Amino acid sequence: MTIFLTTDIHYLSKSLTDGGAAFQRDLALGDGKQLRYSEELMKAFAYDVQIQKPDITLISGDLTNNGEKQSHLDMAGHLKAMESSTGTQVYVIPGNHDLLNPWAKSFKGQHQYKTESINPKTFRKIYGPYGYDEALSKDRHSLSYLAAPSAKLWLLMLDTNMYRNNKELRHPQLEGRLSSSTLKWIDKCGELAKQKGATIVGIMHHSLLDHSELMHDGFTIQNTQEVREVLLRNGIASVFSGHIHIQDISSYKQGTEEIYDVANSALSVFPHQFGIMTYSNANHLSDNYHSMGAIGV
Ligand SMILES: [Fe+2]
Repeated sequence: MTIFLTTDIHYLSKSLTDGGAAFQRDLALGDGKQLRYSEELMKAFAYDVQIQKPDITLISGDLTNNGEKQSHLDMAGHLKAMESSTGTQVYVIPGNHDLLNPWAKSFKGQHQYKTESINPKTFRKIYGPYGYDEALSKDRHSLSYLAAPSAKLWLLMLDTNMYRNNKELRHPQLEGRLSSSTLKWIDKCGELAKQKGATIVGIMHHSLLDHSELMHDGFTIQNTQEVREVLLRNGIASVFSGHIHIQDISSYKQGTEEIYDVANSALSVFPHQFGIMTYSNANHLSDNYHSMGAIGV
């Protein structure tokens, strides 16, 4: 089974920018995301999916630049075309930029304008065909879900974002955590997988483990220890994350057990890489994580 892993696409709908002065100013203040080429990046990624035909394509959040409704709708259009033309199964989760984002804006000439963002209910609806409608189990307290693309490999798609206070904060909250109700739901997922003899892999936007001395506050999930314990007691030894925009693998040993966090770099940032993983029952998942493939741009 081949799995493509990408993250932090930060897609900006072409209809929301004229590439003018306001957009240029915003780009210059940014962190290297190639927002001018969102459309081209998605097409190039879809082209690689077309050629290599992975069984599964996972996107671990920050699908859109700043949660603009139109960017989400365009993104869903790309995913629809990708699934129907290649047969890959796409699964997504939100990142901290995707929901209730006060920074959602469009650009015209010298000015930027506030544009509509989306709430969790709308996210679930737009991305229904890319996870939510196919879920084996859904968490009632977040946008997390459990999917079973095959009998033996299951995906725990975790919503680690904290977007409820974005309006008051007037920016998307950077930090992530999993609530105690979501942790209880993970135990139920683990129980189910045990009964069916399936292996679970975790997908989350925030880092499970630290990847850098410089970037951990706001990047690594706040209750990392608690989450690690829950994942390990449910036999989950690998998670794949995004958010930090750099590619890195960290591991943590707890007694005889070890858990890996594979952070993928942002598709929107040079060199526009994504991860490729092959899975077979015989090997540990992280041993099968390939060096990143750069998209065919
Ligand atoms: Fe993020």
